[in-house]
Amino acid sequence: MSSLMLGACRLEACEADITTLAVDAVVNAANTSLLGGGGVDGAIHRAAGPDLLRECATLGGCATGDAKRTRGYRLPAKFVIHAVGPVWRGGAHAEAESLASCYRRSLELAREVDCASIAFPAISCGVYRFPAEQAVRIAIDSVVDALPASPRMTWVVFACFDEPMLRLYEAELARR
Ligand code: APR
Repeated sequence: MSSLMLGACRLEACEADITTLAVDAVVNAANTSLLGGGGVDGAIHRAAGPDLLRECATLGGCATGDAKRTRGYRLPAKFVIHAVGPVWRGGAHAEAESLASCYRRSLELAREVDCASIAFPAISCGVYRFPAEQAVRIAIDSVVDALPASPRMTWVVFACFDEPMLRLYEAELARR
């Protein structure tokens, strides 16, 4: 596990199922309906239980690049922040900005409820086919840029579901 200290905040990458992490908030890679799906969305809904979908159904969906917050229910995490990443369409449709916005908005929503720790999956790097290397750079750049506005955040985890993704995050963190 490699980590980077930014002031009092530790940023680290680990290989983990994000639903198992005991952080204040886990970020979900959701879709605009917020009504569940596969990948990390499916895993979070399975682990949180049916009350998560019931709360999501009251939110009226979510725009790409934005995020909405719910309780964590049966998850160890107190909150789930449902971020909607962009589908990769070649890079000329503001995908990079939409992805960066997911990380910024997630940190804003976490700050509203005084979270001191948060875990991110590799948003858009699965079904949405965002090139992983570019997505990882955007993830770390946007979190590093947004952190000063969240002084209470002391632990940011990039939860990778496989070794190749972990290696990308570790390399990017090591470059800081
Ligand atoms: N924990 C951590 N990471 C996970 C987990 C998990 N339990 N399951 C999958 N991942 C990883 C994937 O390996 C990938 O690197 O999360 C990353 C994002 O992949 P997806 O879950 O496919 O998310 P995304 O590419 O953003 O696509 C979102 O997929 O599941 C649907 O409803 C979702 O329509 C939305 C779309």
